[in-house]
Amino acid sequence: MQRIFSGIQPSGIPTLGNYLGAIRNWVPLQADHDCIYCVVDLHAITQWQEPSLLARQTRELAASLMACGIDPVRQILFLQSLVPEHAELAWIFNCVARLGWLNRMTQFKDKAGKDRENASAGLYVYPNLMAADILAYHATRVPVGDDQRQHLELANDIAQKFNHDFGADFFPAIEPLILGPAARVMSLRDGTKKMSKSDTSDQSRINLNDSADAIAQKIRRARTDPEPLPGEPAGLEGRPEARNLVGIYAALADTDEAGVLGRHGGKGFAAFKEDLAGLLIATIGPIAAETARLLADPAHVDGVLRGGAERAKRIAGPIVAEAKRLVGFLAA
Ligand code: AMP
Ligand code: TRP
Repeated sequence: MQRIFSGIQPSGIPTLGNYLGAIRNWVPLQADHDCIYCVVDLHAITQWQEPSLLARQTRELAASLMACGIDPVRQILFLQSLVPEHAELAWIFNCVARLGWLNRMTQFKDKAGKDRENASAGLYVYPNLMAADILAYHATRVPVGDDQRQHLELANDIAQKFNHDFGADFFPAIEPLILGPAARVMSLRDGTKKMSKSDTSDQSRINLNDSADAIAQKIRRARTDPEPLPGEPAGLEGRPEARNLVGIYAALADTDEAGVLGRHGGKGFAAFKEDLAGLLIATIGPIAAETARLLADPAHVDGVLRGGAERAKRIAGPIVAEAKRLVGFLAA
């Protein structure tokens, strides 16, 4: 069975982008893969996180993942910082990856913004830690949103260079799984910007714990253009906000852009948005309710993350020990 690894940062409430681009695809993979899903708190602190908030968001994210259908019993759900092998292998990868490779990473440029000199060193080597997350388990398939494509290419470059430099066929190739019509969900306020947990405007995103009223209101106010919906996908060209709402609808209704436009082409946005809000509420409502139910027992949620970490460590321990041996470190 192939091994899956994926991660999500506890840097806020998970959004509809996380759900459609990643989490929703993680669920069915559990049927025929060995899956390891990780709350990546080491990645989260590459940008400032209020310590008391980080702990709360970590627990809320774990509950939310379970509410979405991640099975912490048959699969592994755990907290990255509880398995020190991630940081250890990441250090080795800091010494394998080249500055030239990291300099090409568009996510670093986006996140560092104009004040690059003031970005953390951790933000710069973030992709090396991500490569370590995956390769510490010899995972071969990684389901992510479209924004992580470049990081996975870098992870493959690191694996290859490690194998070459240390003369071993040790780390496997990684196959990105970028699935569905909503692999890149955009902000509701600006169709050219990614929907993000950390956007300053709450109106820019749907959070997985939003109430039905909040969802309806955010969709009603979502930016659009004055034209009605086109009859076919070509008509979405140059209309990023329209394309975004159609993509979200397609993912929720398990169809594609053409399927949505076949039914709704010619409609104005007011009617379309009402339908879309209904679909969203039917999907997210139960997730929010189940998350709240799980959070009533925080010790149980924390226990899942700790128990998962013990199981994860049993897999990563021997792999990272072998990587260290290959590098030439003296055995413990
Ligand atoms: P992050 O919130 O950055 O930790 O991302 C966790 C997962 O959600 C990754 O697989 C991302 O690619 C995915 N993701 C985050 N934002 C979006 C978005 N706006 N659209 C699609 N996927 C996303
Ligand atoms: N960098 C990913 C993101 O922000 C999260 C992540 C960390 C991840 N480690 C990973 C995703 C390993 C897949 C595999 O979206």
